[in-house]
Amino acid sequence: MSKRRGSRQRGAPFLLRHVQSRKGSRVAQLAMALLRYHPVLRATWTTRRMKNMPDVDVNKAVRQHLEMEGFFAGFAVRGKAEARTDSAPADAASPVAVPAPSPARASDSQSMIASPPAPTLAHSPESEAEAVRELQAIAAEVDQCRKCQLGSMRKHSVPGEGHPRARIMFIGEAPGADEDTQGRPFVGRAGQLLDKIIAACGLRRDEVFIGNILKCRPPENREPRPEEIINCLPYLQKQIETINPDIIVALGGHAAKTLLNTVKPIGQLRGQFHEYCTGIGRPSIKLMATFHPAYLLRNYSEQNRRYVWEDMKKVLAELGLPIPERGRG
Ligand code: URA
Repeated sequence: MSKRRGSRQRGAPFLLRHVQSRKGSRVAQLAMALLRYHPVLRATWTTRRMKNMPDVDVNKAVRQHLEMEGFFAGFAVRGKAEARTDSAPADAASPVAVPAPSPARASDSQSMIASPPAPTLAHSPESEAEAVRELQAIAAEVDQCRKCQLGSMRKHSVPGEGHPRARIMFIGEAPGADEDTQGRPFVGRAGQLLDKIIAACGLRRDEVFIGNILKCRPPENREPRPEEIINCLPYLQKQIETINPDIIVALGGHAAKTLLNTVKPIGQLRGQFHEYCTGIGRPSIKLMATFHPAYLLRNYSEQNRRYVWEDMKKVLAELGLPIPERGRG
């Protein structure tokens, strides 16, 4: 095993040793995640061409990941005891999470008028039940779908989950291996970071809706193909129509480019509001594009992290929701 700069050991062998010697520990989990997601380490690990691979400072990579996770975990709204990190995962058996009533949510037409800005749309119980039925029907359709080969290759379809009257919809690219196994969106490493970003916004996972452009996992996590997007997009369009959120947050270039029908890169699209077109003669929905959490994990920098947080602050401001501050929790 190579040793450089004194006793600092680098690269995949170092991480593998951590995974094996400290099974189950936080460091082992992080090391495993780095092996999976870091482009160079992953290539090193999977191809076993360690000697020819570029040098990676594992200590730095681990430090950066911990710093990013810590950053998004440290927010709180002034006046609240602590940031709301109690994200209640949706019922895995049900593709549409129907959350318990929250105090912040207007649940009838009277409280609609008096309520301060809430993370979910003002609604009546009947309209919520109707939206739940529609989302379940879409999920059932997705589950039957064999329009492309992905439908036959998946373990589970991943239609999306969250509040049927969410004001914010987060849209990613496509399910990965963890999502395919569980049938739920954003439950792997990228999902854990998304959970932290949502919590940093003072929101719970069950107060937003989380979905993807593709509802089935592309093999080896390859990029979605145009014909797959064309086949799958109507399901997402119907979900957006049903939920009718105030803002869509497009996570990453694929989601942003697809929903905005543009070829501009995410670097140009992020940080500003765009209009998602819901159909001719119908009102558009504001769309904020930002970096995908998986991109943040792979390309950690303080600047990229700040960009995502700046984008989310704009979303909260647009919705009239309080912007949590760092330094507590
Ligand atoms: N990446 C995505 O784009 N979607 C998921 O559900 C998980 C990871």
